[in-house]
Amino acid sequence: MTSPPSSTSSPSGRPDVAQARQAFEHNGVTTSTRKAEHLRINLEEDVAAKGVRSGFEAYRFMHCALPEIDLADVCTETEVLGWRLQSPMFISCMTGGTESAHRINCALAEAASELGIALGLGSARVLLERPAALPTFAIRELARSVPLLANLGAVQLNRGVSAADCARLVEILGADALVLHLNALQEALQPEGDTCFGGLLARIERLAATLDVPVIVKEVGWGISADLVSALFSAGVAAVDVAGAGGTSWSEVERHRLEGPAARTAAAFAGWGIPTAVALTQARAAAPDGVIFASGGVRSGIDLAVAVALGADLVGIAGPFLRAAASGTQHCIDLGREWVDVLRIAMFCTGSADVGALRSGGRLVREDGAPVPAADGVTLVTSLIETISDLRGTQVTRAAVRE
Ligand SMILES: Cc1cc2nc3c(=O)[nH]c(=O)nc-3n(C[C@H](O)[C@H](O)[C@H](O)COP(=O)(O)O)c2cc1C
Repeated sequence: MTSPPSSTSSPSGRPDVAQARQAFEHNGVTTSTRKAEHLRINLEEDVAAKGVRSGFEAYRFMHCALPEIDLADVCTETEVLGWRLQSPMFISCMTGGTESAHRINCALAEAASELGIALGLGSARVLLERPAALPTFAIRELARSVPLLANLGAVQLNRGVSAADCARLVEILGADALVLHLNALQEALQPEGDTCFGGLLARIERLAATLDVPVIVKEVGWGISADLVSALFSAGVAAVDVAGAGGTSWSEVERHRLEGPAARTAAAFAGWGIPTAVALTQARAAAPDGVIFASGGVRSGIDLAVAVALGADLVGIAGPFLRAAASGTQHCIDLGREWVDVLRIAMFCTGSADVGALRSGGRLVREDGAPVPAADGVTLVTSLIETISDLRGTQVTRAAVRE
């Protein structure tokens, strides 16, 4: 399941990504080996995006000194895609396929069960190649009552993976939905990457029409733009996770697997991508009634609350849960409880009795105090330009943008 190298050497004669790709293929890098490397790198190296932030820090809540509700009455529960959840937080898709991945998945499953939140599994591609890896994903028994999300690279649909294969994966994993990830940049940087993304939208559409469970599409940390969000909903997907930039950077992860010019090529993308808050705002404007998840750089309970107020139905967290899981189940539970407590108190201090009230309450303001505008044409564009200019450290005033 690898794509052929496009060339063998760079004009400079030094090894480049294509050469590195050949070398990796020659060395027979398996999906399991790659998964093990990814886990190690995520746990031991600096894999944060550089030069781009999630954008959540550009917002703050207008404090409500007299909320007129009791903290005990604040309810963080939510319902999404027919699933009743204890909070709008979920553990984003991460791992499977190796023994250490299994330990991580067990800790995540026990925590998700305790917290009453949805749990994403890592890419099941390894299962198509090596069905014997199933036990490393088999955590249904540990998380019987929460939604379990199976995961596969969308590009696999261009590599002979059929709707029947997807249905089988969902069935053997006991999953409640299939998440397809879009990771064009990661595949382009991977020596063994699959870069045949042509015609994929139509395949996603056919799959969404066939599968019995919801099909969700996500990025892996570079964001999904508003035009694609609209196209994906038109294609029949049940939900889109914008999975934007500002958190774990997969170009940085891949950089740690590479050397020389190929590593420098990966480093060039450390600041790539649509900041998560920008992608989320645009997505919500493009699809006011669509089910939209946000992930990428959610690093606190306040980020979680801001994402909900910006319109996220669910908010995904990966890297922080991975690091907690490496220390055991209780660390994951503590992390989740802490962030949901922060969410609950933020709801109390904005007078929001439930998640819907936090979203529609109008208590979110930009860092400079400007109210977060309704998601309509000119106002939205103005706000986005201001947010992007803030993130780049330049000053563009609202008046200047309108001129
Ligand atoms: C160790 C690890 C493995 C991941 N594997 C997958 C995967 O198999 N499929 C996928 O869709 N996303 C995968 N992701 C991406 C996350 O789901 C998420 O989109 C991204 O890491 C951004 O979230 P974060 O900033 O909270 O880490 C992985 C993330 C981590 C940290």
